[in-house]
Amino acid sequence: MKALILSGGKGTRLRPITHTGAKQLIPVANKPILFYAIEAIRDAGITDIGIIVGDTAEEVRGAVADGKKFGVTITYIQQDKPLGLAHAVLIARDFLKDEPFVMYLGDNLIKSGITNLVEQFKDRSPNSQILLAHVKKPNQFGVAELKDSAVVRLEEKPKKPKSDLALVGVYMFDKHIHTAVRSIKPSKRGELEITDAIQWLIDHKFRVLPHIVTGWWKDTGKLEDMLEANRMMLDLYETDIRGTVDRQSRVEFKVIVEKGAVVKNSIIRGPAAIGRGAKIVNSYIGPFTSISSGTEVINSEIEHSIILENCRIEDVGIKIEDSLVGRGVAVKKLNEKPKVYRLLLGDNSTVGLP
Ligand code: TTP
Repeated sequence: MKALILSGGKGTRLRPITHTGAKQLIPVANKPILFYAIEAIRDAGITDIGIIVGDTAEEVRGAVADGKKFGVTITYIQQDKPLGLAHAVLIARDFLKDEPFVMYLGDNLIKSGITNLVEQFKDRSPNSQILLAHVKKPNQFGVAELKDSAVVRLEEKPKKPKSDLALVGVYMFDKHIHTAVRSIKPSKRGELEITDAIQWLIDHKFRVLPHIVTGWWKDTGKLEDMLEANRMMLDLYETDIRGTVDRQSRVEFKVIVEKGAVVKNSIIRGPAAIGRGAKIVNSYIGPFTSISSGTEVINSEIEHSIILENCRIEDVGIKIEDSLVGRGVAVKKLNEKPKVYRLLLGDNSTVGLP
């Protein structure tokens, strides 16, 4: 069995971060989201993995390389334009051959992993098995209608949902999906939709089974969801202090301080993670915060946020909350008269002022 991870796409909902980087490499609990997917696939016993890459191919290759560090083999498949999830299957034909495979959206996180799904697919040998979860607002998702324990219809963001079962970003397929993705036409938004390909399978009497996840899962395509994923993942870790914490500092609840990180005269209230070589001085880092490697926080307070690598946050008089800050960003109080905001922001940035 093989795996196909989708790590291309446009990532419009996470701009401007996605102007300069892959959303799948944004760290939650200081580990790139994509790494959780690779590990879940490996833990299910699959080691031959294809990764679909787009504009951010170089960055993804840089982070994952040949996959050896995960104990898997990676083949990169370039998608010139993000023409849809089914298009990704179409261009992966040579890699996938006729083998069954799991398709995993590289910005999704599933706490319980996919081992049960893969085992069930092997046992029951349907043509496809899709991961579904009960959700509160099904009209915001792709929704599955079930009959006699099989999937009979899929609808994208339906006005009147037939169930509360939403498609989670993991799908199992056998070779018939290749005929399906070749047979469908692009949707109104110009993409080859995987829901249309699965519906094609159903309409042509192939067996599509559901697999319902009961545990936590998240599509991290939006800021709120990314922060929630960070919250969930941080909560799973126990305290692990490998860096230096001075006597004037207090570290409470579950806190990770990685090697080479320095905490001086500060309070770190977990769950929180401080990355390699980060510096926290005269500051407060509150629950559900990830500070990536090389970032410095001086005389400032941060809570419920993700701060990427090599930022410098200094003398910020008001607590920073619910924020996602890209790499190499500087935020600093200006001690000048007159009092002004001085901004250098990328396209589609968002700033919330008090
Ligand atoms: P989406 O989140 O549905 O799409 P997107 O990444 O373009 O984001 P947005 O809607 O904010 O513009 O994609 C789900 C996953 O699949 C994500 O990891 C990106 C990947 N993907 C591809 O690799 N190729 C594609 O053609 C598309 C549409 C998505």
